[in-house]
Amino acid sequence: MSTAKVDLHRLSRVANWAIPGLAVASLVAGMTVSFWFHFLTVFFLLLTVMNLFYRFVQTRHTILRNFGAIGQLRYVMESLGPELRQYFFSNDTEERPFSRVERAEVYRKAKGIDAAVAFGSQLEFGPKEIKLRHSMYPTPHDELEPFRLTFGEERGIASAYTIDKPIMISAMSFGALSEPAVRSLSRGAKHAGIAMNTGEGGWPKHHLEEGADLIFQMGTAKFGVRDEGGLLDDAKLRKLAALPQMKMIEIKFSQGAKPGKGGLLPKEKITAEIAELRGVPMGEDVVSPPSHPECYDNASTLEFIQRVQEVSGLPTGIKFCVGSLDQTAEFLREMAHSKIFPDYIAIDGGEGGTGAAPKPYLDSFGMPLMPALRGVHTILTDLEIRDRTKLIAAGKLIGAAKWTMALAMGADAIYSARGFMLALGCIQALHCGDNTCPVGITSHDRTLKHGLVISDKAQRVQQYVHGSVHDFEEILCSTGVKSARELCMDNLYVPPQSILAGENRA
Ligand SMILES: Cc1cc2nc3c(=O)[nH]c(=O)nc-3n(C[C@H](O)[C@H](O)[C@H](O)COP(=O)(O)O)c2cc1C
Repeated sequence: MSTAKVDLHRLSRVANWAIPGLAVASLVAGMTVSFWFHFLTVFFLLLTVMNLFYRFVQTRHTILRNFGAIGQLRYVMESLGPELRQYFFSNDTEERPFSRVERAEVYRKAKGIDAAVAFGSQLEFGPKEIKLRHSMYPTPHDELEPFRLTFGEERGIASAYTIDKPIMISAMSFGALSEPAVRSLSRGAKHAGIAMNTGEGGWPKHHLEEGADLIFQMGTAKFGVRDEGGLLDDAKLRKLAALPQMKMIEIKFSQGAKPGKGGLLPKEKITAEIAELRGVPMGEDVVSPPSHPECYDNASTLEFIQRVQEVSGLPTGIKFCVGSLDQTAEFLREMAHSKIFPDYIAIDGGEGGTGAAPKPYLDSFGMPLMPALRGVHTILTDLEIRDRTKLIAAGKLIGAAKWTMALAMGADAIYSARGFMLALGCIQALHCGDNTCPVGITSHDRTLKHGLVISDKAQRVQQYVHGSVHDFEEILCSTGVKSARELCMDNLYVPPQSILAGENRA
């Protein structure tokens, strides 16, 4: 028995004659039956012209040359593919980078909804999955020590900065993010009592106006603190560091989504204000160099870190994604030797996010967070300098369980970027780089930003932090520790096939 099958080639050949035929038929009907048929005449004439154009004029698309207007359907379906998959076909655990299950957890927290879920976990319990270990004797909540971490205490500086929650908002520049997104995050961070990293977007005007404690990020282009030649301008850094809201400085060497590449802000997203705050022209992609011109080897890099510490007077950290642990070990050895220590090291996993990056860098560069974090922690410990700096972990750490795992692997604090985007209502449309973000978080289009109401979103940020910190404390109690400082690999179940196998007792 033969089955029905759509032969697109035959269909397109029929369409080649049917479309002009229908134009002629509606023209005749318009003249003899009713004037209204002329609307159809216009429609089919336009379709005829389009079909001829696709088949005989344009040369770029083979499908359109061979199939004409029918071939266009393929492009329509392809462009609708992500939405169709997201809404109809993908199951709750298979979307990337964050599954619906993971996103829903953030949405519930941000909306202040009870996050209890019924029936059973939808996640893998496979042989590679790292899980938390509970204790037979959980810690009573009132015996749990409050979280407290002070950056800069190792150098004994007066400006040392203390946080009382393990989470901070990771670098996302104004430019990658829209103004209402930045303002919502800053206001939400202020109300939640956490710090926010400015990202490498230059003078943090909107961050400052909403009042959060800030970590100023100096990227390789040094937006906001650069001299005419693109090098660090000490006077500009001093002025910025003197602002009361400015709590720390971060020198960015690389990020997980595009290590070794530097930054990219597509020209579509450069408004007059962004150009002014960064000190760049409009109408051109803004590309940051892959490295700081001042830093060409380990010694010069450490000298530069020391210079920023001295000029700013603030705790100064560095951020990078690990490429080779051997190369990182060389750098850390030089650190031990020179006794110049950044006040923190933020490790960004290769799975980290970005506003825009070339695909090979997104997909194929950068050590994943877990082995990178564990590796750096172990090297620092072996060199007996683990107590000279702090470690911050970043890379898909969007909930308290993941925070706890990262702390157990050696981190002292957590950075999240996309967790906070989700709290703002990001629907993972994956349009961060082309100015068409449908919820206005990464778009500067007035009509798209319109949907992002700062007062409402700031509250969501606050509630996300509040709910996640609540979970974190509960989790600590269940593991049986009395403070986050006690967490170690023994608080994790690391199965034999996991990437960290052998790092703890079975
Ligand atoms: C929209 C967006 C913009 C970002 N901009 C920066 C930036 O300016 N500087 C930087 O060091 N990292 C930037 N990042 C990377 C994040 O700070 C973070 O390191 C990375 O996304 C991992 O955290 P996550 O998995 O919680 O998103 C950006 C990430 C996103 C999603």
